[in-house]
Amino acid sequence: MSGLGEILVVEDTPASLKLLSDLLGNAGYLVRQAPDGELALWSASARPPELVLLDVNMPGIDGFEVCRRLKADPALCDIPVIFLSAQYEMDDKVRGFQCGAVDFIAKPYQAEEVLARAQAHIRLARTQKALKETLEELRSARAEVARNERMAALGALVAGVAHELNTPLGNSVLIASTLEDRARAFSDQIGAGVRRSDLEHFAADTAKAAGLLLRSLHKSSALVESFKQVAVDQSSERRSQFDLADLVAQALQPLKAGLAADGLLLDIAVPRGLRMDSYSRPVAHILQQLVRNAQLHAFGAMGSADGCIRVQAAAQEEGEPCGLLRLEVLDNGCGITPGTLERIFDPFFTTRMGTGTGGLGLHVVHNLLCHVLGGQVSVESAPGATCFRITLPLTAPALSP
Ligand SMILES: Nc1ncnc2c1ncn2[C@@H]1O[C@H](COP(=O)(O)OP(=O)(O)OP(=O)(O)O)[C@@H](O)[C@H]1O
Ligand SMILES: [Mg+2]
Repeated sequence: MSGLGEILVVEDTPASLKLLSDLLGNAGYLVRQAPDGELALWSASARPPELVLLDVNMPGIDGFEVCRRLKADPALCDIPVIFLSAQYEMDDKVRGFQCGAVDFIAKPYQAEEVLARAQAHIRLARTQKALKETLEELRSARAEVARNERMAALGALVAGVAHELNTPLGNSVLIASTLEDRARAFSDQIGAGVRRSDLEHFAADTAKAAGLLLRSLHKSSALVESFKQVAVDQSSERRSQFDLADLVAQALQPLKAGLAADGLLLDIAVPRGLRMDSYSRPVAHILQQLVRNAQLHAFGAMGSADGCIRVQAAAQEEGEPCGLLRLEVLDNGCGITPGTLERIFDPFFTTRMGTGTGGLGLHVVHNLLCHVLGGQVSVESAPGATCFRITLPLTAPALSP
């Protein structure tokens, strides 16, 4: 972009062309001249000017056509075009704007007017160009940020998985190598003669170590199982029709004994007749996770004298979108502090390191709801009153393949 700007003046009358060129040239613009439409187009595409002053009436390709062709070329369409035409030609004005001109100068023109309009439109075009570039930069910066965030989330997830698996796998390696050492030592001992008590001792030791090993490996495979849920394997989910009341009863049955042992009351208030056409396994998983969380986090291992976990459900009330279901899990436990509340759906966020799967529970709940069941989950909490509120459609959306 040179100084004030470069202007292409297109005018078939040599005297007018010279007059205009001198006017603009003297004002400091770089001026290129074209005596007809053909040359104007050729000159513009050879090196795009910043402004075109275009005479309407020219032999051959007239001004309107030149303008149309400029506007049709992606490389030239942003160059502002000002038409020059006789004062009385109202029609020209309208047609000029229709083919994409930004302005119109009536002949005979005043020098100040030509200069003022040229300057205004070059400035405007420059600002627009800068804006476009800034927008483009912003767009690519935003894409970059999104990509970085995804990578960071993936990195955190992988680090979390590695961290969680490290303990049980490390234990397994330790136990297995101890077993190996002992077996070697024992076989060395065989040559020197083995007493029955040694044999018994070895067998008992081995059985104990194998038990520990098995426990560590089970823990690892349970972790892997739950990591798989983070990805939400949609293809394996089978859709069916069921009554929510049956599903809730079935899903929570296995937890009853443990809740009773902790002295907690499980209060299920789900009316019959909420027919769902959805994925029963994820719904059951979500219920179990929320109730287990309440048991574990709201009341702790000690339980609570009048601790209660309530599961309730209802179809959305009138005035709310129909076909939606509201499912809530409430507890009267310790509550969740605001700082914790913000992060409970994040992967690997837990306030109890080293138990369970280490903070994947609610992340999986969130994923299942959003990606499989077509629902939402929110939470409200204060000491003595925590409520996980789920909205989900009675008929689940079709899963994408
Ligand atoms: N009902 C609740 N009352 C109090 N705190 C809760 C409740 N539910 C969840 N939390 C808090 O939210 C955190 C995250 O829960 P989440 O289920 O994701 O992980 P976790 O239970 O700690 O581990 P995981 O479920 O993976 O075994 C918990 O560590 C706990 O601090
Ligand atoms: Mg949990």
